[in-house]
Amino acid sequence: MKKHRIKKIQLSQLRTGMYIHDLNCGWTDHPFLSSRFLVASQAQIEQLRAHGIVELYIDTQKGLSVVDAPSQAEVARELDEQIEVILQGSLPVQPRTDLHSELPRAARLLDQANKIVSQMLQDARLGKPLHLAPLQELMPQLAGSVLRNATALSVLSKIKHRDDYTFCHSVSSGVLLMAFEYIRKGSYGGLEEYGLGGMIHDIGKMHIPPEILNKPGKLTPAEFEVMKRHVDYSGDMLATCPDLPVVAVDIAMQHHERFDGTGYPYGLAGTAISEAGRASAIVDVYDALTSERCYHKGMPAPAALRKIYEWSRHHFDPDLVRSFIKCIGIYPVGTLVSLESGKLGVVIDQNESDLTRPVVRAFFSSRRQCYIPPEVIDLSRSLGFGGGDRILRNEDASQWGMDPMRFLQI
Ligand SMILES: [Fe+2]
Ligand SMILES: [Fe+2]
Repeated sequence: MKKHRIKKIQLSQLRTGMYIHDLNCGWTDHPFLSSRFLVASQAQIEQLRAHGIVELYIDTQKGLSVVDAPSQAEVARELDEQIEVILQGSLPVQPRTDLHSELPRAARLLDQANKIVSQMLQDARLGKPLHLAPLQELMPQLAGSVLRNATALSVLSKIKHRDDYTFCHSVSSGVLLMAFEYIRKGSYGGLEEYGLGGMIHDIGKMHIPPEILNKPGKLTPAEFEVMKRHVDYSGDMLATCPDLPVVAVDIAMQHHERFDGTGYPYGLAGTAISEAGRASAIVDVYDALTSERCYHKGMPAPAALRKIYEWSRHHFDPDLVRSFIKCIGIYPVGTLVSLESGKLGVVIDQNESDLTRPVVRAFFSSRRQCYIPPEVIDLSRSLGFGGGDRILRNEDASQWGMDPMRFLQI
């Protein structure tokens, strides 16, 4: 009963002798060598406070407990219930084209974006002047794809085709920021600026020594301090580019700021962080959590959304997080889900009128433990009309040894 021995507490309840299970930290590259350790001194608690830790999980079998603290399972259940409520109601925008008609066009555009961003990062690594014109010229076409169907580019950008995290993360953050902005505002204006900002947001990382940037595992406190400088490096590099939109600069400079003022480089809080900065903080962490790294598996989208929502109490703008959850949907395209019928399937499209009942391609029987002929089930429809099934839960594809993207038939 691992989940019941793990409890969530406030930092103010933390005492020496408690065993930290998870720092519940809003960013992945934090300066603690291990997230799991026995609290041995008050100084350690002060260090956690200084790093903006407010709530955390303790393992009550390995250390002292807090009697009334809720268990991890109870917290998860409550968060899921709240997310369900957020997801009720329609999206403000309906796609103009269905997903599978947009995918081929989106794939061609993404291929062009990949080439340009790859070259841009390579040039930055070599210290060459930034040349953003090719990316800026492509942006209206990328925005056009988002306008036709906001999901297509996002789904494709999560299919990992290169083992270069900064590159993949830059492209997918740009694409996701465009979709987020469009779905949030329901209008076209400004998408290019968000896309550009996302794609260049970590350009300063090209000045971070590769052994730190690509270190497989957690950074030491000293390495973390070096890593944090990437924001200043981005600022220096972007200052050489005339006529950059303010939104794009804000995304690069503010994506590590936190709503409660615990972020970097300036420690800005609340609406002192621009809207673009607050939106990009969410997208940056979501993409990091769901990405495969050489040393950890990507988190399934629903679990990452739950984490983002949990952190929205402190680290992120809560209103923007609610919009982001609607933008992604709890079962984004590509998610592996278990159905009531015992089938396993991959989400292949959303139903904009009910995000909890997407369209699924079922391909595996978990009862018989074998693959079955693929079958498309629209969960918004009833039995006899191509539906009649229900999602029980999302599944971790890596635990099943499956790549659900294969069954998207892109
Ligand atoms: Fe960054
Ligand atoms: Fe980033």
